Amino acid sequence: MIFDECYIKSQIRAVPDFPKAGVIFRDIAPLFHSPKATRMVADSFIQRYVEADFSHIGAMDARGFIIGSIIAYELNKPLVLFRKKGKLPGDVITEPYATEYGTAHLEIHSDSLCEGDSVLIFDDLIATGGTLLAAAQLVRRLGASLYEAAAIIDLPELGGSQKLQDAGIPTYCLTAFA
Ligand code: PRP
Ligand code: HPA
Repeated sequence: MIFDECYIKSQIRAVPDFPKAGVIFRDIAPLFHSPKATRMVADSFIQRYVEADFSHIGAMDARGFIIGSIIAYELNKPLVLFRKKGKLPGDVITEPYATEYGTAHLEIHSDSLCEGDSVLIFDDLIATGGTLLAAAQLVRRLGASLYEAAAIIDLPELGGSQKLQDAGIPTYCLTAFA
């Protein structure tokens, strides 16, 4: 399916003043409600990564799980879940991070990656970049390397995608809202 950015943007709802006054929240729920839009997004990522040389896909809790797991399934790659603090039952490593609205902690199982692994990390959206930067730290702490950080939406005014690139992490988004 050919990628139509205008159509994809039309499937993302702008919600003013959520979760607080002054923020325009970009809601991805309508996009996943549409099988056509979901397939267009998935096909576009699959085309980009089908020949790429990476070993694992990482997906961010919670909305990043949706696109991350679709692509891991299609490309037959192991999926590593990056979870908010306190959700994983095994031994974990933890990284604190700041978001647009506050602070949080991201965790992965300590045995989920090792030296030599190369990870493509997915989220639905990049805002401040805090989530994917924390994920990159966790990947590196286990001796693995970052292949790329990918998201459906970039909010460039919040500076996250630039911060990721400045940290040496190749970053790719399908669309952006300025
Ligand atoms: C949102 C979004 C990204 C992150 C982007 O998730 O889904 O994961 O924030 O912001 P950042 O670039 O500033 O880190 P949220 O933490 O709201 O969690 P959710 O997916 O569980 O709703
Ligand atoms: N939409 C969805 N998630 C977000 C946003 C947004 O606008 N900003 C930070 N996380």
